Amino acid sequence: MKKVKKAVIPAAGLGTRFLPATKAMAKEMLPIVDKPTIQFIVEEAREAGIEDILIVTGKAKRPIEDHFDSNFALEMNLKEKGKDDLFKLVTEITGLNLHFIRQSHPLGLGHAVLQAKSFVGNEPFIVMLGDDLMEDKVPLTKQLMDNYEKNHSATIAVIDVPEKDVSKYGIINPGEEIEENLFNVIDFVEKPKINESPSNMAIIGRYLLTPEIFSILENQKPGAGNEIQLTDAINTLNKTQRVFAKRFTGTRYDVGDKYGYMKTSIEYGLRHPQIKDDLKQLILDLGDEIRKQKKKVKEY
Ligand code: UTP
Repeated sequence: MKKVKKAVIPAAGLGTRFLPATKAMAKEMLPIVDKPTIQFIVEEAREAGIEDILIVTGKAKRPIEDHFDSNFALEMNLKEKGKDDLFKLVTEITGLNLHFIRQSHPLGLGHAVLQAKSFVGNEPFIVMLGDDLMEDKVPLTKQLMDNYEKNHSATIAVIDVPEKDVSKYGIINPGEEIEENLFNVIDFVEKPKINESPSNMAIIGRYLLTPEIFSILENQKPGAGNEIQLTDAINTLNKTQRVFAKRFTGTRYDVGDKYGYMKTSIEYGLRHPQIKDDLKQLILDLGDEIRKQKKKVKEY
């Protein structure tokens, strides 16, 4: 059995929910406090034991490449000024086995993954979305890899979402729960209508896929939103080989929209050694202010 050693990070979407910030910059470069979201993803891959990472970029390729490359002038400056902590911060992310490829047109997540065909070759691989941060004792990527070692099958991460949100996600028809939180999936449906959804179990941004997905993607017609959907290709893959869903029980931070991004930034800020005390005080003060305003409205 082949080991999982490669990961693909699609980062070529238009990021329309963050315009105008994403007009000239990938949303995966938006920072959570002081670290671009894509760096969290790369760190998760590294922690899981992934050896090679391909980042699929769009128009905003340069800042991502530069972020993971060394910056000689900056490093010299920090060294000369004795800023050893900052020197460590900017150099620890360089020297990884990172590769880049361009998706010329953002035709959908399935199309972005198809760009990785020659990088992946005939091996199982991981897809990691840059707008989903995951926290657990064992990184979610590693959990999917462990299941592959045991069951030799593609495995997709899912969570339970409120029923009102099913039409925002790819949803599974979970089938049999063969062991705790592992499902032998019957069907995958992209963005179903609430009354047609087979469950409330939604696909989140980590996938372990087998290379057979590429021949399916090559013939995949546009689906929901007129985009080439990865979910549709996975549904076809599931007709010829078993595809599992692993329910994630850790904490997921959805940074793909403005509210999720702000919530994540605040929660991470409350743990950040440099700002946590001030931020906590600010939140307490704002809470008092909001309560006072509410009281005034009631009194009128
Ligand atoms: P999203 O649908 O969340 O990203 O795609 P988006 O299209 O950039 O965002 P909005 O909806 O316009 O705000 C999930 C992931 O797939 C990548 C995105 O960069 C994101 O990480 N993606 C999407 C591509 O790489 N290429 C595509 O054609 C579409």
